[in-house]
Amino acid sequence: MTFRTRFTELIGIEYPIVQGGMMWVGRAELAAAVSNAGGLGILTALTQPSPDALRQEIERCRSMTRKPFGVNLTILPSVNPPPYAQYRQAIIDSGVRIVETAGHNPKEHIAHFKEHGITVIHKCTAVRHALSAERLGVDVISIDGFECAGHPGEDDIPGLVLIPATADKVRIPIIASGGFGDGRGLVAALSLGADGINMGTRFCATVEAPIHARVKQLLVDSDERSTNLILRSLRNTGRVGKNSVSDQVVEILKRPNATFEDVAHLVRGAQGRVLLETGDLDAGLVWAGQVQGLIHDVPSVAELIGRIVREASDIIRARLPAVLPRETL
Ligand SMILES: Cc1cc2nc3c(=O)[nH]c(=O)nc-3n(C[C@H](O)[C@H](O)[C@H](O)COP(=O)(O)O)c2cc1C
Repeated sequence: MTFRTRFTELIGIEYPIVQGGMMWVGRAELAAAVSNAGGLGILTALTQPSPDALRQEIERCRSMTRKPFGVNLTILPSVNPPPYAQYRQAIIDSGVRIVETAGHNPKEHIAHFKEHGITVIHKCTAVRHALSAERLGVDVISIDGFECAGHPGEDDIPGLVLIPATADKVRIPIIASGGFGDGRGLVAALSLGADGINMGTRFCATVEAPIHARVKQLLVDSDERSTNLILRSLRNTGRVGKNSVSDQVVEILKRPNATFEDVAHLVRGAQGRVLLETGDLDAGLVWAGQVQGLIHDVPSVAELIGRIVREASDIIRARLPAVLPRETL
């Protein structure tokens, strides 16, 4: 069984399921497993310490799958920005055919990728940003609702409204992101006008995700209330898992005149990496979304994708037709 949408046709994959870029998690083991299971796996460029290391990681992923996979390039405001143009060049030189861009001012990167005929999926959190990315020539919009792990933007629009609002305005294929974890979500996304789904948090709780087992168990044990919105007052909102560190960030930033410097030591990416690698659940931030409320086990990626596809087909074949009794057709 395969699913056919504008997205599966464009990318050449069996199922409209994408594994979004994830700092420290989006490595070859996970991306290759997702692609091998019929979805689209994505490596995260900045997880690699240098553009050369990214070239090697792309080769490693190629040795693990013959199916299409992509690379995420996330452009975030930073005091010491990484050499974005060099990472971009490494992606192009390596012959990668699919890129997921995310973050601020992607114009120059999108133009360069498109010059090389690369299919660009741009991930954003607002209809107006989706429209400008479409004007810049991207091929697919991944639209991230307020439920998502990571950066949900400042508009606070959940997927139930954001996805159809985007579908109403954008002509190119759309991937619905944020809060997806099962077949019900996939069918809902298709109903709302999307051509597929993007998942982050759900893929962290799989056998192949290269993170400590205690972090996977944390996602299983948590529920839909187990997130914090951090850095709101600085207009750089992040949705992360609730733990002692994110609780502290929220508390500190409630103080009048609090600034980024007051929490910088708590939100450092390097600390999040320690958490993921050692399983010390209070070492730093853990990025996770509200979909934790739908995560109850740690299957292999193939089991997870197989389950989502079966559940979605059962809904389409049996549950939805039963809503329209024969005499009304
Ligand atoms: C651990 C983790 C790290 C993430 N890092 C990035 C990143 O570096 N770049 C990016 O564009 N999105 C990142 N995201 C967001 C995901 O790609 C995806 O958009 C989001 O997780 C979707 O919401 P969901 O978690 O509800 O599925 C991250 C998400 C998680 C869970």
